[in-house]
Amino acid sequence: MRPRTSFDNLKKPNMAKQKTLYQCTECGGQSPKWQGQCPSCGVWNTLVETLAAPPPSRRFENLSGARSSVRELSSIKTDEKERILSGIAELDRVLGGGFVAGEVVLLGGDPGIGKSTLLLQATAALGASKETLYVTGEESVEQIALRAQRLGLINAPVRLLAEVQLESIVSQLDTVKPEIVVIDSIQTIYTELLTAAPGSVSQVRECAARLTRYAKERGVVLVLIGHVTKEGAIAGPRVLEHIVDAVLYFEGDTHSNYRLIRAVKNRFGAANELGVFGMTESGLKGVANPSALFLSRHEKAVPGAAVLITLEGTRQLLVEIQALVDPAGGGMTSRRLAVGVDHQRLALLLALLHRVSGAQMGGLDVFVNVVGGMKIDEPAADLAVLLAIYSSLKNKALDPKLAMFGEVGLTGEVRPVQRGQERIREAVKLGFKKVLVPFQNKPKQEIHDVEIIAVHRVEEALEVLG
Ligand code: TYD
Ligand code: MG
Repeated sequence: MRPRTSFDNLKKPNMAKQKTLYQCTECGGQSPKWQGQCPSCGVWNTLVETLAAPPPSRRFENLSGARSSVRELSSIKTDEKERILSGIAELDRVLGGGFVAGEVVLLGGDPGIGKSTLLLQATAALGASKETLYVTGEESVEQIALRAQRLGLINAPVRLLAEVQLESIVSQLDTVKPEIVVIDSIQTIYTELLTAAPGSVSQVRECAARLTRYAKERGVVLVLIGHVTKEGAIAGPRVLEHIVDAVLYFEGDTHSNYRLIRAVKNRFGAANELGVFGMTESGLKGVANPSALFLSRHEKAVPGAAVLITLEGTRQLLVEIQALVDPAGGGMTSRRLAVGVDHQRLALLLALLHRVSGAQMGGLDVFVNVVGGMKIDEPAADLAVLLAIYSSLKNKALDPKLAMFGEVGLTGEVRPVQRGQERIREAVKLGFKKVLVPFQNKPKQEIHDVEIIAVHRVEEALEVLG
């Protein structure tokens, strides 16, 4: 039984007559009843239940209910939207400077990573100046209160609603008229218009679309929490990415204390912006200067570690890349494992290393890991990955005061990367004495007390190992 809300006894939402049909997720073809195979394109298992299109008259209306009209581009006002600060600086940074009225944000991430914690903290902070509502479909209000106690927020101005039925939620929203709404989580919400189970693609999509329309019409900030399921996120947040304005994903390793939030899409700010938090006894705390968080400060220099200066959104981070090269453990094939860097890229770099250094990589296991659960997908990491591997292979440590960046081409050339000067400056700020860079990223002027090693080719780069 779902918990009853005070609105259950009021007028039942008008939900009797709306028709459902089955639509193919591949070709968009429709069928009045469910079938294993799409009658239009013949693909199997692609039909999902959906609501039939609304009657034509509604379709010509725009979001505010008026008929749409053609406008001159130059006549449209483009005032910079006012930002609503969440009071959590790292969250505001990922959002591009705070929320915007009418914005719909999807916050995705593995279970247990801290989604509910973060949004309870944000709701509590926002509650001081805005009407907020936290809708919980996963936990009871008592569970939320326990969390709030732990966070020291038990007296914060937070309003809770334990409800999972979309129509009831919407009627509550109409009464409470909040300016900020959190739905925790979208996978638990269902509409009675569809017979599919809560959490199924059709329910998640329909509920999110209805809530989004509501938010846009009233200028309400809507935050949808979504779990990422391990198996390709079938009914997960992925199906919503195109509906919402911003998609934020929690990254990182639940075993470490650090949590990263990345904006993978943002209509009101830069994509790829990163927020860094530490999970503490009393909730998530922003880390304002995370630059050196992902270095594992060895007592002395160790083989197989290289420091990369990477870019995350608008900030630079120093990250340690670790590699272990070891004779294959008895099996016929050698293993290649990459955590935090791309597999294909690793294969390419290994082939290149073989070509330029003559090192025999066959029969050797190669493992590469990025410290701190960080994921790196910029090619500027190539040099650091290559040198970490080479350092482990030769069992010889790199200078611990050396940091690097640079993309590597298939013919062994070292290519320049964007924002080289800022990367160098960050390494210098953190006390590094040597920076290995692509030749074209070499600064025009010398930098006091720092040696810049600018290279054209991979062979030159490998020489830093001595
Ligand atoms: P939670 O926000 O419930 O995760 P999600 O909503 O993403 O599933 O976070 C749960 C984890 O965070 C849980 O393992 C306990 C931990 N935690 C802390 O370490 N400190 C805290 O103050 C709180 C509230 C949670
Ligand atoms: Mg949760």
